[in-house]
Amino acid sequence: MSSTGIRVAVLDDIPIGEGIAIDKTITGTDDDIALLRDDDGSVYALDDTCSHEVASLAEGWVEAGYVECPMHASKFCLKSGEAQCLPATQAVRPHRVEVRSSEVWLFPNEAP
Ligand code: FES
Repeated sequence: MSSTGIRVAVLDDIPIGEGIAIDKTITGTDDDIALLRDDDGSVYALDDTCSHEVASLAEGWVEAGYVECPMHASKFCLKSGEAQCLPATQAVRPHRVEVRSSEVWLFPNEAP
């Protein structure tokens, strides 16, 4: 399913190396969506709930292309959502995100 983009934040809302969660009542998705800002300043979007247990990836640490879950430290690729190390084994879903003039636009359910 594709959707229209939603302006969900401005860049300054998301500190480098951190994330913020956008509520599913805004995104219209099954899960909240984590906007994650890598240490090079780029922004990625993944389903917010870790695929291992219930933890918010938006509260994790973002660095060098990966987000680390705050609960048991599984890492997920920011681009693909693939789990990189145990205990998580399943990917989390990535969503398309675009930054235009410092505004962050999210395209829920669209592949990046
Ligand atoms: S809840 Fe994320 S690794 Fe366990």
